[in-house]
Amino acid sequence: MASTRKLVIAMNGITGRMGYRQHLVRSILPIRDQGGLVLADGTRVELEIILVGRNEDKLKDIAAKHNIERWTTDQDAIINDPEVDIYFDAQTTSRRYDALTAAIKAGKHIFTEKPTAETLEQAIDLARQASQTNLTVGVVHDKLYLPGLKKLRRLVDEDFFGTILSMRGEFGYWVFEGDVQPAQRPSWNYRKQDGGGMMVDMFCHWNYVLEGILGKVTSVYSQAVTHIPTRWDENGEPYEATADDAAYAIFEVETPKGEKVIAQINSSWAVRVHRKELVEFQVDGTHGTAVAGLFHCESQQRANTPKAAWDPDVPTTIDFMSQWEDVPANAELENGFRAQWEEFLADVVAGRPHRYELLSAARGVQLAALGQESSDQGRRLEVPEIQL
Ligand SMILES: NC(=O)c1ccc[n+]([C@@H]2O[C@H](COP(=O)([O-])OP(=O)(O)OC[C@H]3O[C@@H](n4cnc5c(N)ncnc54)[C@H](O)[C@@H]3O)[C@@H](O)[C@H]2O)c1
Repeated sequence: MASTRKLVIAMNGITGRMGYRQHLVRSILPIRDQGGLVLADGTRVELEIILVGRNEDKLKDIAAKHNIERWTTDQDAIINDPEVDIYFDAQTTSRRYDALTAAIKAGKHIFTEKPTAETLEQAIDLARQASQTNLTVGVVHDKLYLPGLKKLRRLVDEDFFGTILSMRGEFGYWVFEGDVQPAQRPSWNYRKQDGGGMMVDMFCHWNYVLEGILGKVTSVYSQAVTHIPTRWDENGEPYEATADDAAYAIFEVETPKGEKVIAQINSSWAVRVHRKELVEFQVDGTHGTAVAGLFHCESQQRANTPKAAWDPDVPTTIDFMSQWEDVPANAELENGFRAQWEEFLADVVAGRPHRYELLSAARGVQLAALGQESSDQGRRLEVPEIQL
């Protein structure tokens, strides 16, 4: 008969945007409410949730709304509670290093938001600490679980592109300043002293996206900018935006086949969207090109490539956008966060490492740090291998 395994998860930061929406509501609660996760061998993994935070009223509200029995404001005690199997962290980045260090010391498996720390030293230290244990540690690499990027990766695996030449990525949207219309992101995101900033936030994503789709990032040139110098916070008070709200970067990437790919990614919270989705990546190769967003992916093969000719005197009559073909999912693709949680929970039960762990996360933090250095110095920097 198939067995049942109960996992107790202490979830910290679930009053926040990511913790509440993506992790609690879209991932853990649906798994709990369907009676747990059934693994390939038939084992049923049941989840018990403990909410962790600093505001009692908010915790009580969320607990009552979602039928969760346990919550606590005592972070230290819950991390050291022998009943807890997994510690989850979606707090503000500046609080992560201490919390994860405590969780590793207490022998808890960890699933955490990125970036794993504010500094590269701390991110490497976390990876080093975990490497000396048998704990299963997962760091959110959500974009790689999204339908659009999964299709893009499939095209790479199918050798659709021939020799891969370049990638261009466009990420961003307009984040309101907060004076007239409230900002749709937390104000700490725009204060460097609170762990905010575009490069810190997004380069750890770009690192695993580049690694997961193409290969190893070998160099970076970046220019970070604070386009909007004053923003208004959650209380309607003006504050100085001390962090970069846009970063324009060129990465060199080496694929396992030895191709040297130029990847150029623009990231901005001060741009208006003229694309299908908030993020899009175009990969160009000798045999074909594909453009992927979070969900969609479309492609154009060498044989289907129309012969464009430059003529500034004649308005074009060609509808370029109609010349692309949809890449089908050919499978049921669920929410990216939930898909990664399910894989992580299966890894915990099997007692094996999760494929996206603290070292990969440290490479993400490294890329953000090198991006900053590159921007400060105005030059391209090599990405050295991290030694634990
Ligand atoms: N994977 C992604 O795509 C993605 C997207 C956005 C943010 N993030 C990351 O997720 C994390 C949370 O971001 P967010 O946008 O949800 O932020 P948020 O401000 O909405 O939430 C932050 C959480 O941390 C808690 N917190 C803050 N200060 C605290 C303190 N002093 N004591 C106790 N708790 C405290 C808050 O109560 C809240 O629960 C950040 O590290 C961010 O980089 C990831």
